Amino acid sequence: MILKERVAIVTGAGSGIGRAGARILAREGASVVIADRRPAAGEETAAIISGAGGKAIAVATDVTDQAQLENLVKCTIDTYGRIDILHSHAGIQVEGPLLEVDPAGMDESWELNVKAHFALARLVTPHMIAQGGGSVIVTSSNSGVFHDHGMIAYATSKHAVIAMTKQMAIDYGKYNIRFNALCPGWVDTPFNEPYIKQMGGRAAIEAYVKEKIPMGRWATAEEIAEGILFLASDRSSFMTGHALVIDGGECIF
Ligand SMILES: NC(=O)c1ccc[n+]([C@@H]2O[C@H](COP(=O)([O-])OP(=O)(O)OC[C@H]3O[C@@H](n4cnc5c(N)ncnc54)[C@H](O)[C@@H]3O)[C@@H](O)[C@H]2O)c1
Repeated sequence: MILKERVAIVTGAGSGIGRAGARILAREGASVVIADRRPAAGEETAAIISGAGGKAIAVATDVTDQAQLENLVKCTIDTYGRIDILHSHAGIQVEGPLLEVDPAGMDESWELNVKAHFALARLVTPHMIAQGGGSVIVTSSNSGVFHDHGMIAYATSKHAVIAMTKQMAIDYGKYNIRFNALCPGWVDTPFNEPYIKQMGGRAAIEAYVKEKIPMGRWATAEEIAEGILFLASDRSSFMTGHALVIDGGECIF
């Protein structure tokens, strides 16, 4: 086990990639704090981890709410006494080009895909400084490293959060805190349901994925979790300010 004695917070861990990441961190010995705005989903992830012999608690948290973020960090410190890993994962996809996204959609994207990561990193970093280091992983997307049709709010916010991650990496590297962005491509989770509907259903998205992804398929959440484990652990001990793309080659197509 490569994360023994470590404590991790994972946001958006009630489903999909966040849940798979929380599970792999726990499997490697970390105590994991599950932060999801859906309490039952967070509890379910914690129960799955406990059932597999791991350590986890769930703290219902909407990451766009400053008071709830403060409560999340307090509960983590009260329960486990430290924070070694933050995987700040929850995000939103508001699709559409300029003329179809209203200003509220852009605000919503900014709130969750950029500002919430900023606010939580800001609360966690002082603990990591005091402890002598840590690893912060911010979920962006491969939409943060290339451009796509009809994705102005999503791509803009996902590019922005990579820039912010690099800024944090520059400023806090001297404290042995590493900040990296995780950039998945197509992963088959409920996150894509609105987009699938917009594209005309499951058959249409399957055809799209087959044609557009050089590897011709979706990723599983577990394949992305391997990247999360790498960034969270000492296996990436000299890596900071990096955007790790795991997308079957889509962004080079
Ligand atoms: N699935 C993909 O294809 C894909 C690709 C690239 C990037 N991503 C990124 O991954 C993240 C979504 O993860 P997923 O695909 O596992 O989705 P998912 O829908 O399976 O899980 C997202 C979880 O986040 C939680 N959540 C949403 N808003 C929240 C909030 N305000 N506070 C706390 N929790 C909240 C939801 O309740 C849910 O449990 C997003 O940041 C997204 O940009 C996903």
